[in-house]
Parts: sequence; structure tokens; C-alpha cells
Amino acid sequence: MRAVVLQGHRSVSVERVPDPTITTPDSAVIAVEHTAICGSDLHLYHGDLGGAGIRLGHEFVGTVLETGNDVHRIRKGDRVLVSGVIGCGHCASCLARDPVTCSGGGPKVFGVGPDLHGGQAEMVTVPGVDAFALAIPEQVSAEQSVLLTDILPTGYLGALRADITPGSTVVVIGLGPVGVFALQCAALFGPARILAVDRVPERLRRARELGAEPIDATNGDTVAQVLAATQGRGAPSVIEAVGADATVSDALMCAAPGGTVSVIGVNTNMAFAYPMPVALMRRLTFRVTLASIPSTWDALVPLIATGRLHPEQVFTHRVGLSKAAEAYRMFDERADGVLKVLLDPTA
Ligand SMILES: NC(=O)c1ccc[n+]([C@@H]2O[C@H](COP(=O)([O-])OP(=O)(O)OC[C@H]3O[C@@H](n4cnc5c(N)ncnc54)[C@H](O)[C@@H]3O)[C@@H](O)[C@H]2O)c1
Ligand SMILES: [Zn+2]
Ligand SMILES: [Zn+2]
Repeated sequence: MRAVVLQGHRSVSVERVPDPTITTPDSAVIAVEHTAICGSDLHLYHGDLGGAGIRLGHEFVGTVLETGNDVHRIRKGDRVLVSGVIGCGHCASCLARDPVTCSGGGPKVFGVGPDLHGGQAEMVTVPGVDAFALAIPEQVSAEQSVLLTDILPTGYLGALRADITPGSTVVVIGLGPVGVFALQCAALFGPARILAVDRVPERLRRARELGAEPIDATNGDTVAQVLAATQGRGAPSVIEAVGADATVSDALMCAAPGGTVSVIGVNTNMAFAYPMPVALMRRLTFRVTLASIPSTWDALVPLIATGRLHPEQVFTHRVGLSKAAEAYRMFDERADGVLKVLLDPTA
């Protein structure tokens, strides 16, 4: 079969690789129907996380082709969406839909290393499939369900964990697809104002259309602009959806006394310079979240089914898997108005 394989710095290609197989009795092999490129794939693309040879992708939906002997809930022929983050599938945390706190080896992400191949491919093996796959609900389209495998849950948890109260002000830093979902999910909690920060003009325009107040970070004065917009106090809830050192710092400096900073951007810096005196004197709460994706499905599926959320609107580009190299380049360069790319494994 064909799969997207990381070749090196800013380089991916579509390669022939061996077909996936049932690796454990609790696994299934899935024929991928749709898959997408995530901002987290860009960390690999930039060489921040791992090396060449990785088969990428952790956002995918498809049809179950084959199941192991110890799979009972999911059946051959089911159309499923799969959590991009999984655990052992059997511990108390995994059974409670919280793979991030898995006690059987910790969380694993598809497509970031050699142990768990990714889903930007024609087929993929899913271990612990009973715990981490969901039959695509009737009122949710296949394209919408791709967004339930990672980034809508991530945006939702970023908002949920930002302590947003009705009538308050929220800052969202970073307006890629994850930030857009954080913004839309923040609105579910009833803030009066959402300040939306990015450097890309069309992303700022989109935020304004979504009812937020855009803040252009091009000149590096995000903190000054947020303070100016909040009578010098900052915002009680700040969501960071970029992952850079500068934006995590900005998020901390934008928070009002007693406020909460909720980071969902992926930052790989082991020596981040955390401004301790600021956090102390403003009594800040700092939360960092790797999304336990299945924990969000009960909330998000009805919101999509009833039309409160239209996540598929983030897809600006739909291309065949064979065009993955160009799609990565375009997504990385934010070229051609791209926000989110859907890949078709059959093309
Ligand atoms: N926590 C999780 O479980 C989880 C899940 C999915 C993605 N992520 C992370 O979320 C982040 C965003 O993902 P995405 O797909 O939206 O990526 P993206 O690259 O499309 O979006 C990032 C945005 O940040 C903006 N940006 C960059 N520097 C900035 C600055 N100094 N000030 C303001 N804005 C700035 C960019 O212009 C861009 O619009 C990534 O770090 C990704 O790894 C985390
Ligand atoms: Zn992701
Ligand atoms: Zn577990």
C-alpha cells in the first residue's frame, strides 16, 4: 500500500510500504477513507520531534477490514473514526476514555515514531480499537468525523480547561485550525469578548467573521495590544494554540490576576523560561493539555449533529494522497489561503 513517509527536514514522500496487519488480539486493520494534516505533523516536518522513515498521520477515519480475536465492540465493516492519541486500551484510564493518563505505558500518538504507524496511508493498524474507535454517528459526516479524531477535541479541551465564565474575556493566540476550534468552543462557555491573535491576514479576517476581535501579532506586541484592549488588566482566560516559546510567554503575560492560561500548542523546549514572579504575583493557573480525545465525543457529537458546530468549514483544500508533498509544503507555508488539508487515500 501507499503511505506518507517523512524523508527529512521539510521533506515527505508517498512510498510503497508493507500492508498493515493485526499486531495484537485487540487490534484492527482499517481502510482509510479520509485523513488530514495536523499542525503537529509540522513539528515532525521541521525536524523538532523525530527522524526520517516515520509513517505520518494521526487524523483518519475509515472502514474496518479485519479485527483480532479480542475485539468485541467494533466489527468488520464498521465505518469508524479513531482517536489520534491512544493508550494500552485496558487500564482504568483507557476504559474511562482518558488515554493520556494511561497506566499501561502512557499515551501514544499515531505517526510520530516507528512503533505506531500513521494514518496518512491507504490502511492502518489500530491497537485497542474497542477503546479508541467510535462508529461514525449517523448525523455526523465522514469529513466532520475526521475533525473528531484530534483537533476539535483539542480546541474544545483548551477552552474547557481555560476556566471561561459567562460575560468574561478570552484571548486565543494562534488561529490555525486548532485555534479556530478553540475560539468556537470558547464561545460555548458564554464569554462577552474573544480577542483573537495571529499574523496571517486571512486568519485574522476569519476570526472577525466568527465574532472575535482580531489582534495582529506581526510586530511582536501582542501583550501590549491585549493590555490596551482590557484596561491594562489582561484577560481571565488565555488559550495558546501555537506552541512557540514566544506565544506561551505572551499567553502568560496576557493573563489577568487570578487568570488561567490553557496551552494546547505543542512546545518541545525542555528549558522553557517560565516567568515565575509573574505567575506568583498574579496567582496564575497554568494548564497544558494533550487531548484525551475520546473523553470529548459525548459533548461534541451532539453539537455537530444539531448544527451548533460546523467543523468541516476548516477544510480549505482536498487533495489526493499522491499530492502529499505539495500539501505539506502549502500547509507549512500557509500558502494559497490554506487552513486545513483533507487527503484522499484513493487518489
Ligand atoms: N495538545 C494537543 O493535543 C494538540 C493536538 C493537535 C494540535 N496541537 C498543536 O496545536 C498547534 C496549532 O496547530 P494548527 O494545526 O492550528 O497549526 P498551524 O500551524 O496551522 O497554526 C498555528 C498558527 O499560529 C500562528 N502563529 C505563529 N506564530 C505566532 C505568533 N508569534 N503570534 C501569534 N500567532 C502566531 C500562525 O500564523 C498559525 O496561524 C500546534 O502546535 C500543534 O502541534 C496540539
Ligand atoms: Zn494533531
Ligand atoms: Zn491504558
